Amino acid sequence: MFTVRAPATSANLGSGFDVFGVALGTPADVVRVDRASETTITVTGRGSKYIPEDPAKNTVGAVAEALDAPAHIRIDKGVRPSSGLGSSAASAAAAAVALNALYDRGRTREELVPVAAEGEALVSGEAHADNVAPSLLGGFTIVTDDGVTQVDAAVPVVACLPEMSVSTRDARGVVPRSAPLEEVVDTVGNAATLTVGMTRNDPELVGKGMCDDIVTPERTALIDGYEQVREAALKAGATGVTVSGAGPGILAVCHRRNRRAIASAMVDAFDAAGVESRAYQTVIGEGARLYR
Ligand code: HSE
Repeated sequence: MFTVRAPATSANLGSGFDVFGVALGTPADVVRVDRASETTITVTGRGSKYIPEDPAKNTVGAVAEALDAPAHIRIDKGVRPSSGLGSSAASAAAAAVALNALYDRGRTREELVPVAAEGEALVSGEAHADNVAPSLLGGFTIVTDDGVTQVDAAVPVVACLPEMSVSTRDARGVVPRSAPLEEVVDTVGNAATLTVGMTRNDPELVGKGMCDDIVTPERTALIDGYEQVREAALKAGATGVTVSGAGPGILAVCHRRNRRAIASAMVDAFDAAGVESRAYQTVIGEGARLYR
């Protein structure tokens, strides 16, 4: 038997749509695997009632098939589904690491990225890897067609999750197919600034580079209270705020000293907009961890 804890993640970070992602210190999914002749899946924990246990419909079923590694797979969800914190990716990443060990497949973490992304394809219709890469590798990741670049960043963040769900499919449906050159130029500048910020663990530079005028504005319209929550977080000291992944979660980057104030400001602002929420005060952290 092997057990793996794989962290929640936040993808895009504004300027890096489908490219950037970070691993969060908390929450996380825990997956346990035992050898079997056929794959079976049981799911417990946060939002488990919304997750299918049929291997043909569950993200970890796709991973087991891709690795040719049938197993009894138990998923304990810490990452709520449809939250914008890479819930399906955390399960897929954990299963990929666990099954790779169980069947001694010898794949590296980098080689497991496309395997875990197969699970993402099942839930969102596209095999994008910007959540599975940080969940597997930790830190800040940049995913392109040529592979993954990873930086061991450790920047403090607050992730605030409202009690509403936005499906990744819907959130991808509002993304524009093209953009004016000036907006692309601005976004490239912001993405470069953010990347330098990650290499220096500098919350000011990371926050400055989180802006994007192409994708994020279309998605904020799907999140009740977004503008108020963003304003409240910035007022409490956040250096940057954006939609986490496809939403509805909201990610704020900050200095450690402001984290608690930002978390309560975000929860209060959602509350004022009539939306319950929960905030995680955490830090960009390590990737999936394997236990025997
Ligand atoms: N990059 C993806 C998106 C992440 O924003 O649609 C969500 O799975």
